[in-house]
Amino acid sequence: MQFKRHRRLRQTENLRSMVRETHLRTEDFIYPLFIVEGEKKKNEVSSMPGVFQISIDLLKEELDEIVDLGIKSVILFGVPEEKDDCGSGAYHDHGIVQEATREIKKHYPNLIVVADTCLCEYTDHGHCGLVENGEVLNDASLELLVKTAISQAEAGADIIAPSNMMDGFVVAIRKGLDEAGYEYIPLMSYAVKYSSAFYGPFRDAANSAPQFGDRKTYQMDPANRMEALREAESDMEEGADFLIVKPALSYLDIIRDVKNNFNAPVVAYNVSGEYSLVKAAALNGWVDEKAITMEMLTSIKRAGADLIITYFAKDVARWLKE
Ligand code: PBG
Repeated sequence: MQFKRHRRLRQTENLRSMVRETHLRTEDFIYPLFIVEGEKKKNEVSSMPGVFQISIDLLKEELDEIVDLGIKSVILFGVPEEKDDCGSGAYHDHGIVQEATREIKKHYPNLIVVADTCLCEYTDHGHCGLVENGEVLNDASLELLVKTAISQAEAGADIIAPSNMMDGFVVAIRKGLDEAGYEYIPLMSYAVKYSSAFYGPFRDAANSAPQFGDRKTYQMDPANRMEALREAESDMEEGADFLIVKPALSYLDIIRDVKNNFNAPVVAYNVSGEYSLVKAAALNGWVDEKAITMEMLTSIKRAGADLIITYFAKDVARWLKE
């Protein structure tokens, strides 16, 4: 039998680009922003070179750059000065994310604002829900998440992204938003969120590490695959418009499973630790940063992600323009 010459289609760059199956576009990216309370603050996160905690008065400059690069959406995380046991900063009318949203909408009404809906940045214990006797309460936390989502929508957020992993958060927030007149605000649910060591640098950036214990009673066990389908299924039934899988790189199989089994846009969260590993190696001159980043993000899309939340968004947007 004549063997097959696969190399025929690999001979030149033009030929390779004709048969390329996966393409990155700047529109695919959602760029995370850490908004810090106070003024004139632009603090680089030590474990995330190139990522800053930015105060609202300096936000415009950052937005100009983002919009100029062609990025269409940002996801907001708040870094408040004060925290309490019920995370009241998360649902305060003038909370940090609410005010940042208003600021963004003032300058760039078309830039899509995704609001991360969680309590861990606002609670003194650092957990994503209310805590009683050392336990993270499910149903009681839902009420606060609903309040948070509504206040974010009131401030002008375009998409609500609940990340807290309490059971029933999608239906609770959907109902709350609908009753408040926000039936057209989509829910981008962190449907499949693992309890991952890759979130370490984010917790520096958002100052949100749990002060006791860990998140294993609400985030998923990295060993589980079938459970991801159950999580995604219930979120679809409850009314999610997008499904997030998080982290991305160690979970490409899960991204593919979710893509194959559910008919909704799939969002992969290329998390902080995935960013930091590359940046650290690149700063040491050990890897080719551009090549490795493009390969990683392409593989996330190839696995089935329609959109990618990534700290690399600005870098990649720049490279795609070149
Ligand atoms: C909040 C939240 C976390 C991340 C996004 N939303 C942290 C966590 O669950 O501990 C992590 C994102 C990243 O690592 O880039 N619950």
